[in-house]
Amino acid sequence: MSFTNPPSPLAPAVYLVGAGPGDPDLLTVKAQRLIAQADVVVVANSLVPPAILAGVRPDAEVVRTANQTLETIVPLMIDRVRAGRSVVRLQSGDPSLYSAIHEQIEALVAADIPFEVVPGISAFQAAAAHLGVELTVPGGVQTIILTRIGGRTQVPEPEALATLAAHQASLCLYLSARHVTTAQAQLLTHYPPDTPVAVCYRLGWPDERVVVVPLSEMAQVTAAEDLIRTTLYVISPALKAIGGRSRLYHPEHDHLFRPQQP
Ligand SMILES: C[S@@+](CC[C@H](N)C(=O)[O-])C[C@H]1O[C@@H](n2cnc3c(N)ncnc32)[C@H](O)[C@@H]1O
Repeated sequence: MSFTNPPSPLAPAVYLVGAGPGDPDLLTVKAQRLIAQADVVVVANSLVPPAILAGVRPDAEVVRTANQTLETIVPLMIDRVRAGRSVVRLQSGDPSLYSAIHEQIEALVAADIPFEVVPGISAFQAAAAHLGVELTVPGGVQTIILTRIGGRTQVPEPEALATLAAHQASLCLYLSARHVTTAQAQLLTHYPPDTPVAVCYRLGWPDERVVVVPLSEMAQVTAAEDLIRTTLYVISPALKAIGGRSRLYHPEHDHLFRPQQP
């Protein structure tokens, strides 16, 4: 992307920006622009690879937060905005899930600090693209569930994995590699053992690894590959050929933009 004129300075505010799964080519144009303009970049560096920071201004302040808590991160962001500076807070994937922006927004509102949320590509979307599949296939599956297993963060009882598994939807399991044996057992209460599971490690990072295995081997493969963090599981009947066809582009299906021919 190129600007014919230098971009105008960013307004002092906190920009909560989704950095996507890791590949800089999957940043949105808006995220790229904000990263290039920000006075301060506060990056969740355990989940956002260094390549994402390539466009940061040489004179920008870069704060890496992997070893910090919100007790230091949020006051720093508030301090910089009050000093008239723009702050880009880079989170992995899309900020609407498992990003702890809820707590950050509450603190920013309480401190009367303006903020904006900028969406990004979530890991489940990167996984589907990597696998070259659609996760909703007519005649097979029409629902996608984004969830996690309970660990240190509890999952409400009605959202227990075994309960969600009953839908046999395309299920994208975040933050669960440490508890994969329990997850596999709960999934097997409803999915057949030969249901394909894509085990996706660090999608879009230089050391990305993706394997597709039967559900009955999900835990064993995770252990063999020594995967503990940054692993997404996609459990889905759509990963094997279903052979359905959407009505959207079907010749017998007319709609507003393709009225029935006389
Ligand atoms: C704290 S959550 C953040 C999720 C993020 N907001 C998103 O939309 O992808 C971290 C978890 O997301 C998944 N994840 C994030 N980035 C990933 C990637 N590049 N490859 C595989 N899984 C990823 C893993 O399940 C990881 O444990």
